[in-house]
Amino acid sequence: MGDRVRLAVAGAGAFGREHIRMLAASPDVEIVGIADANRTAAEAAASDFGATEITTDANEMTSRLRPEGLIVATPGPTHVAIAGHALGLGIPVLVEKPVAMTPADATALVEAEGASASFVMPGHVLRFSEPHRRFVEIARSDDIGPILSVTARRHRDDSHAVRYAEDPVVMTMIHDIDLAIWIAGRPVGPTRVAASRRPQGTSRSETLATVQGETGAIWRLATAWVFTTESCPSDRIEVVGERGSVELDVDGRISVFGVNSRTIDVTVDYDAALATEHSHFVDCIRSGKPPTAVTLGEAVAGLSVAGAVLASLEGGGATVVAD
Ligand SMILES: NC(=O)c1ccc[n+]([C@@H]2O[C@H](COP(=O)([O-])OP(=O)(O)OC[C@H]3O[C@@H](n4cnc5c(N)ncnc54)[C@H](O)[C@@H]3O)[C@@H](O)[C@H]2O)c1
Repeated sequence: MGDRVRLAVAGAGAFGREHIRMLAASPDVEIVGIADANRTAAEAAASDFGATEITTDANEMTSRLRPEGLIVATPGPTHVAIAGHALGLGIPVLVEKPVAMTPADATALVEAEGASASFVMPGHVLRFSEPHRRFVEIARSDDIGPILSVTARRHRDDSHAVRYAEDPVVMTMIHDIDLAIWIAGRPVGPTRVAASRRPQGTSRSETLATVQGETGAIWRLATAWVFTTESCPSDRIEVVGERGSVELDVDGRISVFGVNSRTIDVTVDYDAALATEHSHFVDCIRSGKPPTAVTLGEAVAGLSVAGAVLASLEGGGATVVAD
């Protein structure tokens, strides 16, 4: 292994370009290849940020170049096949969210990881955001006490309903499902999931979901893809505990209410979070150890909740997922 870790990227669309831009600025990484089904997208990324090779076939690239790690930033339905191929060659993969589309799809990824000497790191970038880490630390502290609920809103402009074939639950709400798992742990015991959408039958809608394990915190999650401009309400997440509450507004504040009430100014820097995610991936590749900051097991648990939310939307009632 040379000084720089040889990474390849599958997917050079909107978010793949973000990965490639940040990787190009890292002294620890050499971008050896970019694959995008749309050659023009791969060429544009290589010309803007640099890469040794480009191709239209991700699996062919991985087989030929044998990178030390692969970042998968293609659409969700392609993740398991591309990541599974790399795992079969013993190559670690950082897979964008959603790591898979359904719980069954996620099981296939777990099996591919189990059969490989290598690992999957879910690309849950908020786990690497400093203000989010600070917020979670407070939420889990004695100031807040045993957690009763997690309430999140995450709204996006309505271009998402045109740009993405995938459901808002697996594209956007999945971030808050992961935050809730990080903050309060996986739901405990048989878990009742109830979701509603207005208007129904379209992604250009608001989705509300409650997730209630037998014990532990109740989650209330809201995602709307209806805003006609990019200026949406800021992402917010609130945790209420037996002794107080804490709220993160990504516009720049953590507010704590309780015995030690205070306001903390924060700056959410998504570039910095992505760079930290990449550093963790590089460290895992160098050590040969799977990630600790976020695990495939947590991503799979999140997909099981997302699957129950979708089933509830489909069936018009609550669904129950087993522990
Ligand atoms: N972590 C985050 O905050 C965040 C934000 C945005 C997107 N994402 C995730 O990143 C992924 C990509 O999203 P995006 O917004 O860049 O989408 P996009 O549609 O802009 O880009 C996807 C790219 O993948 C290419 N592609 C499609 N199928 C392919 C295949 N089989 N092999 C190679 N290339 C293929 C397309 O040509 C396109 O250029 C999604 O999983 C999405 O959920 C994550």
